[in-house]
Amino acid sequence: MDTKILTEKDIKLAAQIIKDGGLVAFPTETVYGLGADALNEEAVGRVYEAKGRPSDNPMIVHVGRASDIGQLTPRLSPDIVALIENFWPGPLTLVVKRKENVPDRTTGGLDTVGVRMPDSKIALDLITWAGCPIAAPSANISGKPSPTKAEHVIEDLNGKVDAIIKGPDCRVGIESTVLDVSGDTPTILRPGVITAENIEAAIGKKVAVDPALYVNRPRDVSSEEFKPKSPGMKYKHYAPKADMTIIEGSREKVQSEIERLRVLNEKMGNKVGVILFEERAFIEAAHDFFAKLREMDKQNVDLILAGALSDTDGVGFAVMNRMLKSAGYNIVRV
Ligand code: TXA
Ligand code: MG
Repeated sequence: MDTKILTEKDIKLAAQIIKDGGLVAFPTETVYGLGADALNEEAVGRVYEAKGRPSDNPMIVHVGRASDIGQLTPRLSPDIVALIENFWPGPLTLVVKRKENVPDRTTGGLDTVGVRMPDSKIALDLITWAGCPIAAPSANISGKPSPTKAEHVIEDLNGKVDAIIKGPDCRVGIESTVLDVSGDTPTILRPGVITAENIEAAIGKKVAVDPALYVNRPRDVSSEEFKPKSPGMKYKHYAPKADMTIIEGSREKVQSEIERLRVLNEKMGNKVGVILFEERAFIEAAHDFFAKLREMDKQNVDLILAGALSDTDGVGFAVMNRMLKSAGYNIVRV
């Protein structure tokens, strides 16, 4: 397939491709998305094909105006209204009961749908001109690190989709927080830069966190308690080509252990990459993490040594969630 490489100026052409059932990759503030008309089953089916994505993994539906969530769900609870007022447009996906018109293909057969209004002019213009909600998973080949730059999308999807809109690098760098508000207790299914604390402040009540997010050892993964509620959380994710080990402990010990392992591995002829963020610089870590993994793939690194982020519930926790998956839960404590 001949993929059109577009810019912001071509937004109407891109929107027409979506209307015609085609696939367009576009920037959002979190990561690049691969979009299709959310209400067109066939178009959504093509997204799964292009990404090589398992078809029971539901997609996030992007709306251009907050009120358009009403096309997708029958009711808005006071919590949902407060969350929309506080965080949209922005990196918060709300999992709500779905209306009949939302195809099974889009929701992976669930009776809920994930909806968000992105905070990116290009994304909002695309949705507005297309005149339909846009289903969009991250615009990477399934299993690879999420794309935060146009070049990442071109690497993965050139030749597989109708068009790619080249825009700026993504401001946030990790995907949206996914919050299930379809039941009695709001529950975080995927952590992001909008944290449990932010959400609690907006709705004035405690939120729950899917226990699967506390998994940090492979043996935990198989246990029933840690079966993730969000289908997408169970798949192999974000994996660089290199083997990856996370080192956790005090700053000093982590630094010296990374250094020790680096020297040893380089002596054995391995190319080693190190990911060690400034202490508590979680926003920067979120911004840079996926791009660093892709960078190391490009340099044909054999082994990545990464310092764990010490944060139990904030933005650092969200980055750690991605880091653990990238490393296949391979973490060493020092
Ligand atoms: O920031 C983002 O959310 C990006 C940009 C493009 O908007 N999109 C994104 O989509 O990360 P994706 O498909 O890579 O991840 C969607 C996540 C998956 O873990 C999926 O299982 C979960 O959201 N999800 C979607 N709908 C759901 C539902 N109805 N119930 C539970 N989890 C849902
Ligand atoms: Mg993804």
